Amino acid sequence: MASRMTSYTLALLPGDGIGRDVMAEAEKVLSVIEQLTPISLTINKIPCGGQHYLDTGEEWPEGSFEFCRDEADAILLGAVGWPGAITEDGDLAGGSVILGLRSGLDLYANVRPIRLYEGVRHKIHGEFRQIWKPGMVDMLIIRENTEGLYHSLLRRSADKAQGRDSWEPHTMDFPGLEGEVAWDPRPISRHGSERVIRYAFDAAQRRNGAPGDGKTRVTCVDKSNVTRGCQLFNRIYHEIAEDYPDTETDHAYIDAFCMWVVRNPEWFDVVVTPNMFGDISTDLASVLQGGMGIAASANLGDEHGMFEPVHGSAPKYTGQNITNPMAMINSVSLMFDWLGETNNAADCKVIADFIDKAVTETLMGGILTYDLGGTAKTSEVGDAIVGVLETLLRKHFAVA
Ligand code: IPM
Ligand code: MN
Repeated sequence: MASRMTSYTLALLPGDGIGRDVMAEAEKVLSVIEQLTPISLTINKIPCGGQHYLDTGEEWPEGSFEFCRDEADAILLGAVGWPGAITEDGDLAGGSVILGLRSGLDLYANVRPIRLYEGVRHKIHGEFRQIWKPGMVDMLIIRENTEGLYHSLLRRSADKAQGRDSWEPHTMDFPGLEGEVAWDPRPISRHGSERVIRYAFDAAQRRNGAPGDGKTRVTCVDKSNVTRGCQLFNRIYHEIAEDYPDTETDHAYIDAFCMWVVRNPEWFDVVVTPNMFGDISTDLASVLQGGMGIAASANLGDEHGMFEPVHGSAPKYTGQNITNPMAMINSVSLMFDWLGETNNAADCKVIADFIDKAVTETLMGGILTYDLGGTAKTSEVGDAIVGVLETLLRKHFAVA
């Protein structure tokens, strides 16, 4: 059994735009945890992303990846991406932070919980309404996180290191296409699929089943009617399902899934899907829980974990103190839950649960940013959450 760790080293990567705004609120949460619990945190804040690239010519300081790999117990990321910030190779500046960490640390499962909290109305047709009820939406979308369409970046850096160019159009025929062609291969491997699909089945065993009928169910979402990679993914899904006879198998093509998830969210328990489909469908599914202001994610591997809101850097909202910090703070909760799980540390589990309670209470109290129909500022929502959390922590840990 792992020893109970009470000290953790965290890498904080605020990144770009509103990533910086919401990270400031996460830091308030971390500091109250430091003060009121037996846990001590060593925090290393690392500048990174597109804005940092424009300022300095590098995506992050040298040695940052190694710090995340060798020193950090967990990584918190705000968001990366900034208009006009493109590397000299023509890639997203900040890409080697987010995509580099996902593949470099083998964070193969991107776990994106979609759960509707009490006190949330959704903005549909321009109005805030209650459409889905809390208890009706509670699913985990698990996105493969290291291959598929995102593999190109890895391939380009491997090419660069080996001084070759596997991208010249003449290396491949494109029948029926004329003129300039740009292309991105979408490799899907047996190993990559097996590990994420197994993660999905294991995650389903720890849950209470789909909200609609209580059944433990893993839905494979793919496009196996058209693509070879998805055919492999789907085949491996069925192989692994045999090891979990009590879990219901289920399948949807990605296009149909987009329709079903909105129409019948209560059907879904755990969903597993290749990389790009997971990227797109989790933005869509976030609407079921009130939008991107709430949606959190965990990038998990066997050794490392990185936690980040699903949303991007939203340049036009940057620095205005209006962004909802809940997605970031929920990601902090996911981080403590994972630290608790991997270190067998009950205190971390308690903290994760208290953060969740503090977010719920803040929502119930109507302290809402504009995206949820309120007028509260980023910092007011952060302070409200910290206020509730403080009370819960004081009571539990009995710190004077
Ligand atoms: C996400 C983001 C990233 C992705 C971008 C910033 C590269 O959209 O985490 O969903 O596409 O994975
Ligand atoms: Mn995305």
